Amino acid sequence: MSAATDAGNSLAEPKVSFTNIHQVFELPKQSKNDTGAASSVVALDNVNLEIPDGQFVALVGASGCGKTTLMNMIAGLVKPTAGTVKVSGKPPRLPNLDIGYMFARDALLPWRSARRSVELPLEVRGWDRHRRRERADEMLDLVGLRDKHTQYRNQLSQGMRQRVALARTLASDPSILLMDEPFAALDARTKLTLEGEFLRIWEDGGDSRKTVIFVTHDLDEAVLLADRVVIMLPRPGRIAKDIIVDLPRPRADHLGEVRYTEEFREITQSLFDSLEGAIAPDGEVAGR
Ligand SMILES: Nc1ncnc2c1ncn2[C@@H]1O[C@H](COP(=O)(O)OP(=O)(O)O)[C@@H](O)[C@H]1O
Ligand SMILES: [Mg+2]
Repeated sequence: MSAATDAGNSLAEPKVSFTNIHQVFELPKQSKNDTGAASSVVALDNVNLEIPDGQFVALVGASGCGKTTLMNMIAGLVKPTAGTVKVSGKPPRLPNLDIGYMFARDALLPWRSARRSVELPLEVRGWDRHRRRERADEMLDLVGLRDKHTQYRNQLSQGMRQRVALARTLASDPSILLMDEPFAALDARTKLTLEGEFLRIWEDGGDSRKTVIFVTHDLDEAVLLADRVVIMLPRPGRIAKDIIVDLPRPRADHLGEVRYTEEFREITQSLFDSLEGAIAPDGEVAGR
């Protein structure tokens, strides 16, 4: 518990804050003739979380514990049933051009080349063609796709698609990154490579690092990458544990070794122990 209590405390205003959040979703009735009371699901129950500017927070938890709902609240896509969400001190607004949102599946448009995919958020922001192209090429270089500018979605591997999605997410230089299981659909090796590359880009931000909220069900990935790990449990969705990960940075260049260090094993072990039955032996947080 030592580091857990002051994980989000800071004198500066938090970049993102959730105060007493409750979220209930009404479920549609099964059929027209269904006269039973409408059922509902408590997606989030009394969630309180403050995220300081520049912090890399991992949200870990089984399917259904409300991780995506929290992200959608930051993005302004879901308004809480009760409680207050603030982003940079204000209620979330839609669209918020200061947010980049990335998903497990790349969601690239099949008729756009890699370069034009990365240009998309810049078009939305009204950048002219020349600037857009220059920025897209710079971003594709950053994720190691220098020679893939003209390729279309179906010509790219799943790993390359996620790189393009990462480049697109970073292109407009948002100060908040919402990453919803961004590497979950990748094979183990590609996943490690992309984790390292993403972490390198983020750590290179130095004093002006972006605020990252990174959803994963992989506890090792959370501890490897994040400054702070928030573990959630389902039904109702709630925060079970909130700890600071004080592994030294930069970590990006030796992620492969970090997971075999004593410190790393101590942190993951203490998380397992504190949650007892709630975490399955393979590192995934048990849900149903
Ligand atoms: N739009 C919605 N309508 C009804 N139920 C929803 C909706 N969005 C999420 N839920 C429910 O809320 C709970 C939390 O969902 P979600 O935030 O997607 O969890 P996670 O991302 O952790 O898997 C789940 O039980 C899910 O079925
Ligand atoms: Mg989700």
